[in-house]
Amino acid sequence: MRLKGQRKMGYYPTPPVVVERLRPFLEFPEEAVTCLDPCCGTGLALASLVREREAGTFGVELDAGRAKEAREILDRVLHSSFEETRISPGAFSLLFLNPPYDWEEGENSETSPAERKELTFLRSSVKHLQPDGVLVYLIPRIRLDERIARLLAYAFEDLSIYQFPEEVYEPFRQVCILGRKKTRDSQDPEEMSRLLEAVAGKFKELPARPRHRYTLPPGKKVPLFRSMKADLETLAAELMQSPLWKQLAPRADGFSSAMPSPPLPLHTGHLGLLMAAGCLNGVVGEGPDRHVVAGKVEKFTIESEEYREDGTHEARSLERYRVTIKLLLPDGEIRTLT
Ligand SMILES: C[S@@+](CC[C@H](N)C(=O)[O-])C[C@H]1O[C@@H](n2cnc3c(N)ncnc32)[C@H](O)[C@@H]1O
Repeated sequence: MRLKGQRKMGYYPTPPVVVERLRPFLEFPEEAVTCLDPCCGTGLALASLVREREAGTFGVELDAGRAKEAREILDRVLHSSFEETRISPGAFSLLFLNPPYDWEEGENSETSPAERKELTFLRSSVKHLQPDGVLVYLIPRIRLDERIARLLAYAFEDLSIYQFPEEVYEPFRQVCILGRKKTRDSQDPEEMSRLLEAVAGKFKELPARPRHRYTLPPGKKVPLFRSMKADLETLAAELMQSPLWKQLAPRADGFSSAMPSPPLPLHTGHLGLLMAAGCLNGVVGEGPDRHVVAGKVEKFTIESEEYREDGTHEARSLERYRVTIKLLLPDGEIRTLT
């Protein structure tokens, strides 16, 4: 019996024995590969699958806690729903897909959310695989219906289907589907009927020593990997990489440091200077006197002209600075002190 907490958001991690048996199916090129898990959980399955290999690992996870764990072991992780991500198409060598389970919500219905998820996750993530890229797709056997078979036969060739090893086959009776992405999508009626026949029959257990292997193509660059929704942790990480931030950070440090307490009470003039410099910006006061203060120094120009009796003319332009302090009062009134 799995823990209730684990089940949250359809979290059923790939059993370690399945990962161990899948690993020898994959043949790695000399160059680095790129791997995507669009619902990566804690990232453990993908990280172990490509362990000790030259691989860039990318994961997306909806649950904040699991996304945080995944960040420790995968190279790039988005805490987001996969539906709300923007990821480079055709960039990945491997797509590892174990879609979320929603058994609680109408198991056998044709239109159940669970069924839709297995199909929609496959449909929306296939485009991220490059031609010849390898799919590893894990789903409960009951979900492998005609629509999924049709999509698999359309986009993949060299498909193999195995059932999970006996010790982890129950209660969900999952199967592993491996395939190579076609260079050009095409409906292959033979592959389709072979697949449909296979779906109706019995599958062999995932062997410990595969006879057939899948070679991963070298990875491509992944210029786009982001969530459409602002995720503070990702934003902070991206900001740290920004060349502009690198220039601004040393200056921003001074602003962020806390103001030390003065040894003696400040003179009104000092207060004015601090306010003008913006050092006291923010909420001040208590109760009805509570207000927001913002100070700034503005530059302005005084133009003057002088016409002399000898007919000459002089135009002067004088630059001055004006201290402005704005107060936002609790009733919404904005008062400007100059
Ligand atoms: C079946 S688990 C697979 C976890 C991992 N890939 C593995 O094989 O061990 C599915 C994961 O998908 C996550 N999930 C659910 N809906 C999601 C969504 N819309 N986008 C991204 N992840 C989602 C769940 O939180 C859960 O961790």
